[in-house]
This record gives sequence, C-alpha cells and structure tokens, in this order.
Amino acid sequence: MNPHLRLAWTQIVTADDYEEHMTAIGQAQAAAALTQSIIQATTPLEGARLVIVGAGTGQMLDFMDASLLRPFQITCTDLNRSFLLRLEERLTRYGLQATILEDDIEQTALPPGPDLLLATLVLEHIEWRRGVKMFADLRPQTCGVILQENPVGMLSAVTPDRQVPPSIAKAVEIAHPTLVPQTELIAAFDGRGYECRARDTQEVADGKRLIAMRFAPRMSHRRKDYSA
Ligand SMILES: C[S@@+](CC[C@H](N)C(=O)[O-])C[C@H]1O[C@@H](n2cnc3c(N)ncnc32)[C@H](O)[C@@H]1O
Repeated sequence: MNPHLRLAWTQIVTADDYEEHMTAIGQAQAAAALTQSIIQATTPLEGARLVIVGAGTGQMLDFMDASLLRPFQITCTDLNRSFLLRLEERLTRYGLQATILEDDIEQTALPPGPDLLLATLVLEHIEWRRGVKMFADLRPQTCGVILQENPVGMLSAVTPDRQVPPSIAKAVEIAHPTLVPQTELIAAFDGRGYECRARDTQEVADGKRLIAMRFAPRMSHRRKDYSA
C-alpha cells in the first residue's frame, strides 16, 4: 500500500471530519443506498457470513435500513483503529453484533468463504489489483464493490477547490487515491474467475457518480470448486 495513503488513513483523517465530508458531498447517502440494493439482491439466509472490508466508521448505517444486516454473521475490518471504535458504537446503537478486526486487506488475516464481501470506496485507496486478488482469494459467493467515478477531466478523488474539513485537507496534500475504471475492474475480476452480474449508479456532488458492481464466481469456476 502507498505509504502516504496509509499515513492519511491511520494518522491524519479523523472520524468526525470523514463523516462530515462524506455527508456534505452525498457519498455517504449514495453508498448506503447502493449497499442496501446489493444486500437486498442477495437474499441472505440466517447466519450467512457478511464481511465488510475497509468498513470505516460504519456511517452507512445512518442512511440505510440497518435491520437488513440482522440475518448476517458480520465481520468488519479497517486499518484505522479509531474508525473501528466508532463503528463498534454505531453497531451497538443499531442493535447489531459483529466481529471487528484491525486488518490490512492487502495482506488480510480474514478466513475464506464469506457469503457476501462488501468493499465500498476502498479499492481507490489501496493497490487495487492486489485488492481484487485478495477478494477473489477469499472466494465470496458474492462480492459487492462500490467505486467513485469522476466527470471527464477531473483527475483527483477530492474535487479541486472544494472546501473540506481540516484533516481531509491535510491528507490530500500528501495522499492521492487512484480512481479505478469500471472496465478495468471487470477485467481484473474476470481474470480471477468472477463475472459482473449487476451494476447500479447514484449521482453525487460535483458531477461524480458512485458505481456499485456485484460480482459472482463464473459457473465454470463453481463447477471446478465443487469437484476439487
Ligand atoms: C473512503 S473510506 C470508505 C469507508 C467506508 N467503506 C465507507 O464507505 O464509509 C476508505 C476506508 O478504507 C480504509 N482502508 C484504507 N486502506 C486500507 C487497507 N489496506 N485495508 C483495510 N482498510 C483500508 C480506510 O481506513 C477507510 O476507512
């Protein structure tokens, strides 16, 4: 992982500033709506395993129907311990229980075999092809990824000239997330035996969009897995 991004996420960006910024630009609300659709499309059985990587502070719970998570046995991970503390409080507030792990998804200690793995606005902050490899190595039945897409010509993840809270402003001085093109993401998953089953979008501030993609193992891979 890029050391500047690691520093930004572990020591610079505060939970308060992150949440204020994400709400102001509509990405918290949009990501929650897209996550809700992914979960509803998977119709989980009681006890199904949900892993949320780079879960952050769990802000999405404020903008979605948190009861949709009740059937799951949930595990949430992130690099940032203080984000995880806030996430833990939030889960309790919504009557949810989860295993919470400080974990680097690029060298994860997560056990394989979740029913659903969710990664919202995470690949932009890591070596994304390695992230896709790690997701696929965990062999989820379904993998939901949410990406940010900018208007043509806007290269930086944070909109130039937008007023942002102080710790975000400090982070963007040194850390530069990489936006992931949809087509390249689909090709990378394809190379790991996963096909894109559904796509959904939500408009957010500054002409940007969030793109949700739902991946599942290709049928030929499933057969191979069963006979192995
Ligand atoms: C843009 S935030 C998204 C947070 C959350 N998914 C959401 O939608 O609110 C990116 C998150 O990824 C986490 N992160 C960055 N690099 C990571 C890594 N290598 N492993 C796990 N989490 C990471 C950050 O700490 C941060 O919480």
